[in-house]
Amino acid sequence: MSGKLTVIVGPMYSGKTTELLSYLEIYKLGKKKTLLFKPALDVRYGTDVVKTHSGLEAQAVSVEFSKDMLPHLQEKIDAVFIDEVQFFDKDLIKVVRKLLDENVNVFCAGLDMTFKQNPFETTMLLLALANEVIKKRAVCHVCGEHNATLTYKISDNDSEIDVGGKEKYIAVCRDCYNKLAGSGHGASSGGSDEDNR
Ligand code: ADP
Ligand code: TMP
Ligand code: MG
Ligand code: ZN
Repeated sequence: MSGKLTVIVGPMYSGKTTELLSYLEIYKLGKKKTLLFKPALDVRYGTDVVKTHSGLEAQAVSVEFSKDMLPHLQEKIDAVFIDEVQFFDKDLIKVVRKLLDENVNVFCAGLDMTFKQNPFETTMLLLALANEVIKKRAVCHVCGEHNATLTYKISDNDSEIDVGGKEKYIAVCRDCYNKLAGSGHGASSGGSDEDNR
């Protein structure tokens, strides 16, 4: 039977990596063969480790390009886990399709949108291919409700590719995002590509 693709998306702090690692644990408990990948770009916690905001850790294979995963996938593997998919090139879709055709289950986690509310293209393509989509929410940093679907950038650096944590980003609900953006505070107040067209 062909493999199944599960894609976990949401804003920062919504528990995407935690959920990815909980699926990984299920496979490990069942003594299944697994591999966890992360993009080399994300050096927040060192190169070969995936870490959650609450401190959970797992050993990972750090790769720069999607095709660099292929040499690690020569022997039979039951499930492949990929974190921070938003940072991978679009060839990730080809790699994932190949795995599914080889009966490997694939679990991906990543941001659906930038802090400007632009979609991350690789995530978007994976969502189209997914058998199951899990959309997570965080606690809104401003109002405290468990309805944060967006990430707001509090630092002034306007780059949409900018690795970091609490010093740069907060999770917010749409109402609080719009209030913050209206106040002109932070890089998110610059608006999305859609607004700028
Ligand atoms: P993600 O990969 O989506 O950024 P993680 O799985 O790394 O999220 O981290 C989730 C953990 O982050 C939560 O279990 C909680 O301990 C912590 N956390 C920090 N800020 C928030 C927030 N605003 N909303 C929810 N969880 C938060
Ligand atoms: P996280 O979802 O596991 O918290 O990690 C998201 C990573 O993506 C973190 O390093 C910050 C980075 N990031 C960007 O590069 N651009 C963005 O627009 C956002 C929201 C986050
Ligand atoms: Mg994460
Ligand atoms: Zn809010």
